[in-house]
Amino acid sequence: PAVEFELEAPFSIEYHDSVGSTNDRARELAGEGATDVVVLANEQTGGRGRLDREWAAPAGGVWVSVVTRPAITPARAPLYTLAASVATATAAREAGVDARIKWPNDVVVPVGDDGDYRKLAGILTEMEGQTDRVDWLVAGIGVNANLDADALPEGATSVRAEAGDVDRRRFVQRLLEEFDRYRGDLEAVVPAWRELALTIGQHVRVDRPAGEVVGEAIDVTESGALVVETDDGRVTVSAGDCEHLRPV
Ligand code: BTN
Repeated sequence: PAVEFELEAPFSIEYHDSVGSTNDRARELAGEGATDVVVLANEQTGGRGRLDREWAAPAGGVWVSVVTRPAITPARAPLYTLAASVATATAAREAGVDARIKWPNDVVVPVGDDGDYRKLAGILTEMEGQTDRVDWLVAGIGVNANLDADALPEGATSVRAEAGDVDRRRFVQRLLEEFDRYRGDLEAVVPAWRELALTIGQHVRVDRPAGEVVGEAIDVTESGALVVETDDGRVTVSAGDCEHLRPV
């Protein structure tokens, strides 16, 4: 059964020791009209990642989904996802981890100076609405917090491996405070994101529905799209899977 506890953050919390997916539970709550509710779990048995991937979510992580009803058009929704990644990276940095962001919203820790990284956290945003307005938006955030390195998928790292264990309650509180601040000031999201970006300046390959884009990532637009300088000119990519390539 869900246990509720209070955080000093402008969200009410529904805590589960174990749940299928906090995003699924959050979607249920959103469908019932809830807002500013956070579903937090110690363990997920059916964690979901982007692009229909599975997301390993053993006990000891921070698996959290935030239910909001933002007064924005769907076109602005990516800013919420970027805000979640900035908030997560900020909380991780305060915990002593050199957290950066890989476009669009993976929180990573650099390895060396070549754009290589290990993944610390990921964000899965889901929403419902019409073309002109968002009904609800769920920002699902998964942080490999107090997890042993050998419990992690390949290419991943954890707060424990980088800086030692965190007080997860405090971590979630800081994350939510930052998320709340940025959702109230969406103009501040991209500038903050840029400061933390590992992707800008990298040679990248972006897989997107309309085909692959290869070149140097030079900036993000005010709506969070990636600007890539390719051999054929500049291409702006609003969504896709981005890989950092080794410098040639
Ligand atoms: C990614 O693929 O990088 C996104 C991973 C998102 C995982 C989080 S954990 C909390 C929330 N519940 C889920 O089932 N997924 C998200």
